[in-house]
Amino acid sequence: MARKGKITVVGAGFYGSTTAQRLAEYDVFETVVLTDIIEGKPEGLALDLNQSRPIEGFETRLVGATTGIDGSGYEPTADSDIVVITAGLPRKPGMSRMDLIETNAKIVRGVAENVAKFSPDAVVIVVSNPLDEMTALAAAATGFDKKKVIGQAGMLDTARFTNFVAETVGVPVASVKTLTLGSHGDTMVPVPSACTVDGKPLSDVLDQAKIDELVDRTRNGGAEVVALLKTGSAYYAPSAAAARMARAVAADSGDVMPVCTWVDGEYGISGVYLGVEAELGAGGIRKVVERDLTESELASLREAAEAVRSKQADVANL
Ligand code: APR
Repeated sequence: MARKGKITVVGAGFYGSTTAQRLAEYDVFETVVLTDIIEGKPEGLALDLNQSRPIEGFETRLVGATTGIDGSGYEPTADSDIVVITAGLPRKPGMSRMDLIETNAKIVRGVAENVAKFSPDAVVIVVSNPLDEMTALAAAATGFDKKKVIGQAGMLDTARFTNFVAETVGVPVASVKTLTLGSHGDTMVPVPSACTVDGKPLSDVLDQAKIDELVDRTRNGGAEVVALLKTGSAYYAPSAAAARMARAVAADSGDVMPVCTWVDGEYGISGVYLGVEAELGAGGIRKVVERDLTESELASLREAAEAVRSKQADVANL
């Protein structure tokens, strides 16, 4: 099989290292570069992951690189096709994603500037929180075309929703389709009209009170994991989502996924990064895909857009 391309994962914490592992195990990239500001950590993880290759049976090579916040050490990332930004603090129990905004804005801005300098043609996938704001900030700091800067949230929220429905109904996850749009936070917009179990509408399978309960659990899905872990936030499902997006870009697949992207008139909303469905390809976003929403779903999506719009404007000053 022909492996091609270079993908860099910035931040070798839990999210970054599991993302690098998933990307390498896909065995479609030539190189996965993992970076961090903690000296030796990315190199150590890359060495360890490379040694798993004979067992797992993949040939993609991992390269670890310690970087400085001054931009030193970025050379191994040069000319990456895709960069996944995971750098930043995770939540502690009781914190909202928004509590991270000032600290992570500084980190993401610095990283994005270096990404733009070393990989001017890359598609950038942002996962640092608060997600919608960090994606908008990365787009501004790189100066890249907004189609090339995408945030990961909807894939994860949708996967959480699907898992909860499958467990509740007692069916395989593959039998369930769900969808969430909007923000990665309080104004997440679950879309029950797009949810099915074995092709049947969700409302035929579960009563409204149960659906509301699962929607609520999905909206608080990240916090539930944080409360249990106590020392960090989720990374297995998040890394699966980010890696899958990167794979769609690398393969120029045209897969439609819920992602955080720049909305320009779709659903009557403009000028904001928001969670909607979009077709992913080599250049990042090919196009936003609009679907028919119920009146209340559309109203919630517009409300979510206004909630993140003001925060995204603030981020420019952080
Ligand atoms: N450049 C590179 N790496 C950095 C930088 C930087 N400027 N600043 C911090 N890091 C690294 C840290 O050294 C740490 O290893 O980012 C890593 C973050 O890892 P964790 O603390 O394990 O956090 P993680 O669970 O990976 O979450 C990362 O994703 O889901 C979001 O909210 C979460 O914003 C957080 C991010």
